[in-house]
Amino acid sequence: MTSGTQDEYKRYVLLFFVVAQLMVAKLGVNCHPQCLDARPPFRASSVSFCPAYKDHGCCMPHQDKQLKARFDRIRLLVPASEKQLWTDCENYVKTFLCEECSPYAAHIFDAEQISYGTVPKPRAFPGLCRGYCGEFFTKCKHIVKYYMNEVGSDYMEEASKLQSAITVGEEKFCNETHLVDLDYCYPGLLTNPILIGNISIDKVSQEGCLCMEPFDKVKFRNPIFLKHANDGSKRMFIGEQIGIVHIMYPDGRRITPPFLDISADIQSSSYKGDERGMLGMAFHPNFSQNRKFYIYYTPSITEYEQQQTSADHKTRIEEFQVSADNPDQVDYSYHRIILEVYGFYWNHNGGEVW
Ligand SMILES: *[C@@H]1O[C@H](CO)[C@@H](O)[C@H](O)[C@H]1NC(C)=O
Ligand SMILES: *[C@@H]1O[C@H](CO)[C@@H](O)[C@H](O)[C@H]1NC(C)=O
Ligand SMILES: *[C@@H]1O[C@H](CO)[C@@H](O)[C@H](O)[C@H]1NC(C)=O
Repeated sequence: MTSGTQDEYKRYVLLFFVVAQLMVAKLGVNCHPQCLDARPPFRASSVSFCPAYKDHGCCMPHQDKQLKARFDRIRLLVPASEKQLWTDCENYVKTFLCEECSPYAAHIFDAEQISYGTVPKPRAFPGLCRGYCGEFFTKCKHIVKYYMNEVGSDYMEEASKLQSAITVGEEKFCNETHLVDLDYCYPGLLTNPILIGNISIDKVSQEGCLCMEPFDKVKFRNPIFLKHANDGSKRMFIGEQIGIVHIMYPDGRRITPPFLDISADIQSSSYKGDERGMLGMAFHPNFSQNRKFYIYYTPSITEYEQQQTSADHKTRIEEFQVSADNPDQVDYSYHRIILEVYGFYWNHNGGEVW
């Protein structure tokens, strides 16, 4: 096992865990690198317009070129009579454009503020920290018009908000460029020790920062868990609520047929809030020797049981064993029920097992 693939594996395994963490707790600064397209940052050699982000950022060389072209267009939009404005403010323009290459671009441009029913769209103007925004406003507020003209009609609403804020004054303008998550405002994020703490694609920092790669080769229906067998095989066991456990390798290969399919025994429905199904999996501590593992699921019950108990499903923990011949297949001839309890509701079901 090379350390590269080990890290990669760790990343995948951590993925669900960290997502869960981020959802339940905001741990001070929320260190979460992400590009405008929601992908993780990367290393891009030969970027010349925004070289600060060449080792760890969000711009490929062609995007760096596009930013340079936007810079040139903004320059041309500034009339000759305002030459001094350009001279005074071109560094701000360049700085703002290059923030699209920042490893935190998705935050700086608020691309993460998703409201239901609308396609999330990054803003055109970056989120600025208070003091810096004030300085910019005093010196260069008149450049905003040209900056926003260049991005065009898609951003008319943002442009007109910024323009009317400028007429009100600094505070209104800086309120308008203010980010929901202040930790990421420019340039404060450049000196935030957690955000600059040597985060890279290969490295998970102590604070729990990491980069995430989507599984884009395969799709899962209601994936409920992602486990590893602690057997050095690098296999990920991904469980779907309907009762199927898939094996996936770090390179994205998914094994067919699935490792385990108990979907025929599952009591559930197509109602999207139905919380019954296969909800947990745990490997025996000696899995590599005895090939045993455990599944928590909700099998259906007979009409007779239903009448006797008024339950609508059972909760079951069952022991299974992997085939002796094929480590990617369960041996369906073996099983042992460890625990069974009647369950009364299709909701309020949880089943993580360790
Ligand atoms: C700016 O935002 C602050 C905090 O939300 C608010 O109290 C203040 O009134 C705003 N100022 C202007 C001019 O909109
Ligand atoms: C980043 O890494 C360098 C070299 O490994 C180290 O000297 C520096 O202290 C690290 N910085 C942070 C913030 O961890
Ligand atoms: C695991 O297997 C080893 C060797 O066969 C044995 O010594 C140990 O007691 C087993 N542990 C458990 C938890 O079964």
